[in-house]
Amino acid sequence: MEVTNELTVEKYKSIFQISNDLASTLDIDSILELITLHAMELVNAEVASILLYDHNKEQLYFRSATNMKYHTGLSQILVQKESLAGWVAEHREPLIIDDAHEDGRFSDHVEKKLKYQTRNLCIVPMLVKTKLVGVLEVLNKRNTNFTPVDQDILSTLGTQAAIAIENARLFHQSDTIADLVHELRTPLNAINTISYLLLRSELTSDQRNTFVSTIQSETNRLSELVSNFLDFSRLESGREQFIMESFDLHALCKECMDIVSIKAMDKHIGINIHNSSPSTIMAFADRNKIKQVLLNLLSNGIKYNKEFGTVDVVLQEQAELISITVTDTGLGIAENELPELFHKYYRATDIHQSIQGTGLGLVICKKILDHLNGSIEIESQVNQGTSIKISIPKKANIL
Ligand SMILES: Nc1ncnc2c1ncn2[C@@H]1O[C@H](COP(=O)(O)OP(=O)(O)O)[C@@H](O)[C@H]1O
Ligand SMILES: [Mg+2]
Repeated sequence: MEVTNELTVEKYKSIFQISNDLASTLDIDSILELITLHAMELVNAEVASILLYDHNKEQLYFRSATNMKYHTGLSQILVQKESLAGWVAEHREPLIIDDAHEDGRFSDHVEKKLKYQTRNLCIVPMLVKTKLVGVLEVLNKRNTNFTPVDQDILSTLGTQAAIAIENARLFHQSDTIADLVHELRTPLNAINTISYLLLRSELTSDQRNTFVSTIQSETNRLSELVSNFLDFSRLESGREQFIMESFDLHALCKECMDIVSIKAMDKHIGINIHNSSPSTIMAFADRNKIKQVLLNLLSNGIKYNKEFGTVDVVLQEQAELISITVTDTGLGIAENELPELFHKYYRATDIHQSIQGTGLGLVICKKILDHLNGSIEIESQVNQGTSIKISIPKKANIL
């Protein structure tokens, strides 16, 4: 294609600048934001969005969009194979459509959900060699239709973006895998050593039982580490999907309380739930993810508590936010350690180390809350107890 137009040369220069910016960031969210924003501006479109391809589920899903930032439920929209984006993903070819509603492949499933009227569009595949990372889509060119030059610009941008996304994923993967291998060593060594000791004939049956139960708890820790690790890396790579729904917060807390009640009873710990609002508090978020956060806070409140202690769960509703505070009467955390708690595998020193854990729970909580535009705050006093408050917007924004 001949590209002589002065403006177009400027655009290519700006793509060069964008690809430099992309190459220097490893944060997937920033990469996606950068691409959609520039895609929209470069081709004069009303909206740009990125759909990533999940290779396990063989499914495209919305991941980022300009102008739709405050639209809840975006990532919940599954993109059908029979849509235009699905066609681009399958054929790995770009597409320009002047009148979307006239095209047989167009599905109004997404635009109905987003209450958005599509006139024209251009979609390009985002490929690294032959691997499909996702598709880049722009909608509604201002005043006119998309041109082959627009498509060419988007394809260049899409390729740069695909490489940047893959690089960021690989970087995070190698980093987290190295950490995991390091963490796996400790329980593996313990199991290894103890199984040698078990072979000795002079052991009493009490000693033998102690060794066997240590092996059991170390294997539990191994499997907890692996499953926490998988949760964490899915969240970090941006592959995790958030399914937003409305649910009763009190009922969820009750459900979590029932799950941890045996552990609480073992230590004679009482758990109380207080709803500070006169009516039922409804949340709009990913219920399972909030459940995961709550279960970790409750299980920490029990694990790091004293015998006969209590765990209080307080639900609050404000104008824009809903929050849950979990307060225990346990060991507490020293002030200088508080900032460390959101670092992977960090576990507070001394007594906490003898309690089983992975140091990934709070990191996962923080990632989940970040995705939901929420927050987590910790207050603690050594030997008095810890209070952890999580808040999420009432109208959750999932981007
Ligand atoms: N309620 C609490 N009371 C005291 N210490 C806590 C509490 N919650 C978390 N911590 C400290 O923070 C660390 C990290 O917590 P978390 O990420 O949930 O990992 P884990 O519980 O698997 O160790 C814990 O190891 C512990 O030292
Ligand atoms: Mg924990």
